[in-house]
Amino acid sequence: MHLSSTILALLTTISLIAATPQYYGHRLPFVYEFDKVIEVKAVPLEVRNGTTPVPGEPGAYGLFNFGLNIAEDTICFNITLFGVSGAYKSPALTATHIHEAARGASGPPRLAFPNPVGDDHRRVSAGCLKGPFLTGVKNMTTGIDTGEGFTIKKLAMGIEGFFADTHTEAFPVGAVRGQLDGGSC
Ligand SMILES: *[C@@H]1O[C@H](CO)[C@@H](O)[C@H](O)[C@H]1NC(C)=O
Ligand SMILES: *[C@@H]1O[C@H](CO)[C@@H](O)[C@H](O)[C@H]1NC(C)=O
Ligand SMILES: *[C@@H]1O[C@H](CO)[C@@H](O)[C@H](O)[C@H]1NC(C)=O
Repeated sequence: MHLSSTILALLTTISLIAATPQYYGHRLPFVYEFDKVIEVKAVPLEVRNGTTPVPGEPGAYGLFNFGLNIAEDTICFNITLFGVSGAYKSPALTATHIHEAARGASGPPRLAFPNPVGDDHRRVSAGCLKGPFLTGVKNMTTGIDTGEGFTIKKLAMGIEGFFADTHTEAFPVGAVRGQLDGGSC
């Protein structure tokens, strides 16, 4: 009895560890109190390698909906990808990001989101992430993770300087991309 409950507890612990995703922020249940709500339509023609246009997946698009709560350092996301096919690919913890760069330029990921799940027609990822954040990508000069020290306040203070995208094996620099400048409060 005692032994079997110990074993059960141990097994439960092991399966919890196995189920824990790589850390990119604290996963939270959905909350709905936001300082800023941002709706982004991501398309293949916005994808850049540096500043060179490298079109993403033809016919694909993504709806990236974000809610920012500055005091809680929390971002909620509801990401739907249409027509993004095949496996994800990125050197980061996930292949679905907010990067810091102006429209037409490229820059480091600041937030990594769980990749949308589904088929080649429609994939979805929704939830919330609370800082501190990690992307799994290190700045080559400083060796520091590009998500370290990033806050939702920094994002909220200059949303037009950020874009959202997702990367796949066939479109490693981006299958779809959209600038976060259509925000409304
Ligand atoms: C992106 O640009 C780099 C540097 O110019 C180049 O080595 C790489 O092949 C390019 N990648 C794609 C997918 O265009
Ligand atoms: C995510 O957005 C879709 C429509 O784009 C909506 O049907 C769904 O309810 C949303 N999910 C959440 C958790 O808000
Ligand atoms: C790496 O960090 C340095 C120092 O903070 C910064 O100037 C540079 O832009 C960063 N590089 C990238 C690719 O973000």
